Amino acid sequence: MSPDTASPQYRRHGSNAGQPITRRDGVLKVTGRATYAADNHPEGMLYAVTAVSSIARGRVTALDVHAARAHPGVVEVLTPANRPPLAHDPDEKMPPFGFRVEVLQDDKVRYVNQPIAMVIAKTLEAATEGAALLSPQYEVESARTGLDNGDRYAPPAVGIGAPARTGHGDVEAGLAAAARVTEADYVTPAQYHNAMEPHAVVAQWDGDHVTLDMPNQALALSCAAYGAYFGIPAENVLIRSPFLGGGFGSKAILNGPQILAILAARMLGRPVKLALTRAQMYGPVGHRGRTWQKLRIGTDEEGRLTALHHHAVGATSSFDEFIEPAANASLPLYASPAILAEHEALRLDAGTPGPMRAPGEASGSAALEVAMDEAAEACGMDPLEFRLVNYAETEPGTGRPFSSKALRECYAEGAKRFGWSDRPLQPRSMRDDNGFLVGWGMGTAVFPCPHFPAEARATVRADGTALVETGGADMGQGAWTALAQIAAETLGLDVDQVELHSGLSSLPDGGIAGGSGHTASAGLAIHNAGEDAIARLAELATADPRSPLFGAGNVGVVARSGRLHRSDDEGRSETYAEILLRAGRPEVVGMAKAARDPDVAAAHSMYSHGAVFAEVKVDPDLGQIRATRLVGAFAAGRIINPRLVRSQYFGGMIWGVSFALQEEAVTDPRTGRIMNADLAEYHVPVNADVPSLDAILIPEHDAHVNPLGVKGVGEIGITGTVGAIANAVWHATGVRVRRFPIRLEDVLVN
Ligand code: MOS
Repeated sequence: MSPDTASPQYRRHGSNAGQPITRRDGVLKVTGRATYAADNHPEGMLYAVTAVSSIARGRVTALDVHAARAHPGVVEVLTPANRPPLAHDPDEKMPPFGFRVEVLQDDKVRYVNQPIAMVIAKTLEAATEGAALLSPQYEVESARTGLDNGDRYAPPAVGIGAPARTGHGDVEAGLAAAARVTEADYVTPAQYHNAMEPHAVVAQWDGDHVTLDMPNQALALSCAAYGAYFGIPAENVLIRSPFLGGGFGSKAILNGPQILAILAARMLGRPVKLALTRAQMYGPVGHRGRTWQKLRIGTDEEGRLTALHHHAVGATSSFDEFIEPAANASLPLYASPAILAEHEALRLDAGTPGPMRAPGEASGSAALEVAMDEAAEACGMDPLEFRLVNYAETEPGTGRPFSSKALRECYAEGAKRFGWSDRPLQPRSMRDDNGFLVGWGMGTAVFPCPHFPAEARATVRADGTALVETGGADMGQGAWTALAQIAAETLGLDVDQVELHSGLSSLPDGGIAGGSGHTASAGLAIHNAGEDAIARLAELATADPRSPLFGAGNVGVVARSGRLHRSDDEGRSETYAEILLRAGRPEVVGMAKAARDPDVAAAHSMYSHGAVFAEVKVDPDLGQIRATRLVGAFAAGRIINPRLVRSQYFGGMIWGVSFALQEEAVTDPRTGRIMNADLAEYHVPVNADVPSLDAILIPEHDAHVNPLGVKGVGEIGITGTVGAIANAVWHATGVRVRRFPIRLEDVLVN
C-alpha cells in the first residue's frame, strides 16, 4: 500500500452518503505531505527541458546542438535529427481524446511554444542552460492570429464527437414570424487552463515496462495511448497519479512534451523528469479556443421564443481539430419551436485547443445568456420573468422528460435568496453609499450528465473493514471522500471503516475524471462492486446452518452497521467478521463494471440545472468592475457530500468571474506570440476578486440518470455565471458588452 493512495486520517462530521465530511486529502495537502508527480526523484534521475519555438509559423533552420552538448551537465539533446521512432504516427489522432502531438517529427513550427528540441541533463539548471544554448534560427512565415484572418471551414464535428449542426424547426420562419428579433455578435478569448501544478512526468523504464508519475485525469485511456506510442501493451504502462494540482481538462490528454521525456528515459536507460514551465504550457497542452458567436432570437408579443439561432465560429490549430462546441449550449435549455445550433471552424497558427472547464457550455452559455437578457430587454420584461416564460418543460426538439421542476425551483430559490424582486427594470438606476453603480443580472445554468464506463473492486475484510479500489483521479473535487461515502453506504459500514485506493492505473479502471462525471461513473462501479461483495457474504451466511441467516436466501438480507440482517426479521443478524471467520476466509472480493443503460439514456434527457444571480459594482469614473455577490441555486440529483458539492459550485462560479472579468491570453498579431504567458499578467481571480458566494443545493430525485441518482456538479457553476455577471454589468452601467473579458474601458461612458 503506497502512502500516496491510502486513506489518511481526516476530520469527519457524520458518516456515509449525504454527510458533509471534510475531504480525506485535505490534511495531506495543507501540510505539504501530498506528493505530486514532480516530487518524485528516483535514483539516477535526469532532468529534461524542452526548447520551444518563439515563432508561430515557419521552420527551424538551425539549432546549435554542438553548443548544448558541450555543456558539462548535458547528457543528450533530442532534435528531429535523432529522435528515436515511435510505434504510433504522432500525426494521427488517437481517439477518443488523443490529439496530434508535436514530438520533433519535423522542422516545422506551427505555433508559439511548440517543442523544437529537448535537452536532458544531470541537473535542471544544466538542462535549462543547454536548451538556451541551442539558439534556434528560423525561417519565419506570417502567422494567422486573428478571428478575421484565419481560414474558415465546416468542421465534421465539434468538441469530442458532438454534431457541428443540430436543430429542429424552421429558424428563418420563426424569425420572420417574430414580433421582435434581437441579433448580436459575441466574442470569447483564448484561455489557458493554468492549473497550479504544471504538466509533469517522471518516467522510469524497466525493460518494456514503464512507470509514469504524472498528473492524469484519464488513467486507462492514457495507458492505452502511451502503450501505442511506445509499442508496448497498455498493461505495461503504470501511471501513478495520486494527486493533481488542478486539471481543468488539460490533464486528460496526451501531449508531446511528456511523450518526448518518456522517450528520452527509454533512450538513456535512466529515469527522466520533465516539468513544464508556466510559459511552456501556453501551446502544446491545450487551451480553450477562441469563439465568435452570433445569436438571433425571435420573440412573440408575449415574449415567447419563436426562434433561436446560435452560430459559432471556433478557432482551432492549423494542423488539428478541437472546436469549442459553443452553439450547442443553446440546444437543451429554452423552449423554442425552432432552434439551430451550428459551427464553423477557423484555422489559426496556435496550439490545438482542447477541453477546458465546461468546454462549449461555458463560452456558449456566456453568449446565450447575454442574448437572452437582450431579448428580455427588447420585450420590456424582467430577465427572470423572461426565463420563466421560456425555459423548457421537456427537452427542446425531442420532448424527452427533463428536470424542469428542479430548474423552476432553482429560479425561485435563487431569486429569493438574492433579493431579485427588488430589482429595478431600468439599467443604471442603483448606486451604493460610495456612489458606485450597482447592477443585478442573472443566467440559467445547465450541464449534461455524462457517464463513463468504470470498474471497481470492493473487498470486505475479516476485521470488518473494507478496501475499495478504482483507478480514477481526484483533481481536487473530493473524489476520495465522496466515493468512500458511496462505498460505505452500499457496504453498510461507517465511512471510517472504508479505505479507498485510487489514482493508480493498475487498479480497476475508474473511468475519466472529467465531464463532471467521475462521482456518478466511478461511484456506480463502486456501488455495484459493494453489492457484489455483500452478495458473496450473504451466500456464505445463508448457506451455513450455524448462521442466524441460514436459509434466508429467498427473503434476502440487508447490510447495515457492519452486519447482515434478515430482511424479514432484522433481529436475526451477524457481523461480516463473524461470517468470514466461520467460513475461514480472510475476505470476500466484489468486482463490478458499470455503465449507463443506453435505453434509459435514449428515453430521458439528462442534465444538471441551476440559476445564477450576480451583483456587480462599477466605479462610474474609473470603470473598475467588481463582482460583489453571487448566488447560485443548483439541482444536480442526489448530493453525496454537501460540503464538497458546495465547494464545487463555488469553484465553478469563480471560474465564471474569471471568464467574465479576467481571463484572456493576448496574442501579438504581428508575431503570434502570447504576450501574457504567466500568472502575473494572465489574470485569474485571487481571494480579493472573489465575491460573496452562496450556493443553494436544490433537492432533486432523478431515478433515471443512474441507480444512485447522482449527477455532475464540477462544471455547471461556470455556466450561467458568466452571463449573469455580464448582464449585471449592463444593469449597472447601461452598456452592453459582448466581448469577454469585460474591461473597464468597455464601460466608461459619459
Ligand atoms: Mo473537464 S474540461 O471535464 O476535465
